[in-house]
Amino acid sequence: MSGWKFDLTPVEVPKISTPYRRIVTRLPVPESLPLLETLDQYESIAMHGQLPVIWDRAEGFQVHDAWGNTWIDFTSTIFVTNAGHGNPRIVEALREQASKPLLHSYTFPTKVRADYIQYLVQSTPAQFEKAFLLSAGTEATECALKLIRMYGYKNGKRRPGIVSFEGNWHGRTLGAQMLSHNPAQKEWIGYLDPNIYHLPFPYPWRAEAVRSPRAYFRKAMDALLRERQLSAQADLCGFLLETFQGWGAVLYPPEFVQEVEVFARENGILLAFDEMQSGFGRMGKLFGYMHYGVEPDVLCCGKGASSSVPLSIVLGSRKIMDLPPIGSMSSTHSANPLACAAGLANLQALLQDGLIDNSRVLGELFHARLNEIKSDFSDQIAYVLGRGLLAALHFVDANGTPLVDVANRVCQEAMRRGLLVVHTGRETIKLAPPLCINEDAMIEGLKVLSDSIQAAIR
Ligand SMILES: Cc1ncc(COP(=O)(O)O)c(C=O)c1O
Repeated sequence: MSGWKFDLTPVEVPKISTPYRRIVTRLPVPESLPLLETLDQYESIAMHGQLPVIWDRAEGFQVHDAWGNTWIDFTSTIFVTNAGHGNPRIVEALREQASKPLLHSYTFPTKVRADYIQYLVQSTPAQFEKAFLLSAGTEATECALKLIRMYGYKNGKRRPGIVSFEGNWHGRTLGAQMLSHNPAQKEWIGYLDPNIYHLPFPYPWRAEAVRSPRAYFRKAMDALLRERQLSAQADLCGFLLETFQGWGAVLYPPEFVQEVEVFARENGILLAFDEMQSGFGRMGKLFGYMHYGVEPDVLCCGKGASSSVPLSIVLGSRKIMDLPPIGSMSSTHSANPLACAAGLANLQALLQDGLIDNSRVLGELFHARLNEIKSDFSDQIAYVLGRGLLAALHFVDANGTPLVDVANRVCQEAMRRGLLVVHTGRETIKLAPPLCINEDAMIEGLKVLSDSIQAAIR
C-alpha cells in the first residue's frame, strides 16, 4: 500500500439508478465522515486510507451503504466472498449454529467440525488426506513452514531450507514475512532467516522467462545452489509458491511450475502452494494450482474458504499432517463451530450451485472484455493478467513507467460511479467479483470501469 489517501471532500456525482447500481448522494457521503473520523482517531494508522464507502449490507455481488447507495462489487472484499456476500446457505448455517447455541468449543470435539473436515478432505484431490483448521491465512503459511521443515528433518535433511519466489507474499506474522519477498516489510524483524531463499520470478516482461520457462528456473536454481553452497538433496525441504502474485494477478508459465515439481521430486523436496487468493473457485477451478498440471504436497488456504468468518486451512497427506504429536499444533479458534458451519456451507455452495463453473465461463468473457479495454487504452494499460473471475490491469506507459496515480484515480472514479475495485497502492488494480455475479451485472461493471479509466486519464 502506498501513502495515497482517497479524497474525503464530498463531491456532487451524477445520480445513477440501474438494477445493479444506485448512487443518490454526494460521495463520500457527508454523513459518513464522522464515522471515518472516529476510526482515524482510535484505530492504528495502518488501517487508514481505505475507500470511503461505509458498508452497511452486502448481498450477492452488491454492497449497500446506509444512505441509499448501492455498488457492484468487483472486490469480494479482496477474494473472500467467493460464494457471494451473505450467501443464503452460509447465513442459514451460521444462524442455525448461533441459535443452538454453540459458539465455541476449542479443546472439545463437535459434530459440525467432523462434518466439515470430512466434506472438505473428500472434496479435494486424493493426496490431501487430512486438514488442519486455523483462523488467519498467515497462520496457515506459518503452519506449512513448520510442517515442511519437520518433514525435511524426519527424512534426513541437514538444513531446513525453503525456497520461495521474488514478489511472493504470504502474510504479516514473522515466519510469513520471512517467506515473503518484500525486503522493506522485513526490516522490522532485524534479521533474516538464512534458510529461506527467493528465486527470480518468471514475469511475462522477462523475455528469457517467456522464451524458456524451464531453463529459467533451472538456471536460477543452479545459481542458488552454487552461490550458497547448498545440496538440494540435503539442504532443501520445500518450495512455497503463491499461486499467482497477488498485487498483479501474475501467474507463472505452467512449464516453470512443472519444472519446479520435477526438481522437487528429484530431490525429496515438498511442493506447497499458498492458495489464499487463488483458491475456492476464484480462477475457474477449485484451486488455482490446477491450471499448472502439478500435484502439490501441501496447500494453504483462507479467504474464500468461508466467504465470511475467519477460517484458514492447511491440507496435506497423512504423513505430513501427522508429524506434530498430539497437542503440539493448536490454536484457540481452530475449528470454531461457526467457522466450520460457514466453511461447510460455503464449499457446498461453490460445488453444488455451479459457482465454480460460473467463474470459468464468465471468466472467459470477463477477460475478453478486459482485453478490449486494454486495446482502448493501449497507452496506459500494458497487461491484463489473471484467470477466471480474477484479473489485474497493469497501468504502465509505453516507456515502462508505472502509472500509480492513474490506478489510484481509477479506484476513486469507479467508486463515484457505483463500482468497487481493489486498490493495491501500486500500478495495478485488481478485479474479483463474487462468483455468483451474472453476465449483465458483470458487463455493466466493466462499462463503468472503462468510463472510470477514461475519467482518470483525462
Ligand atoms: C497470498 C496470501 N497469503 C497469505 C495471506 C495472509 O492472509 P491473512 O491476511 O488472512 O493472514 C494473504 C492475505 O492477503 C495472501 O494474499
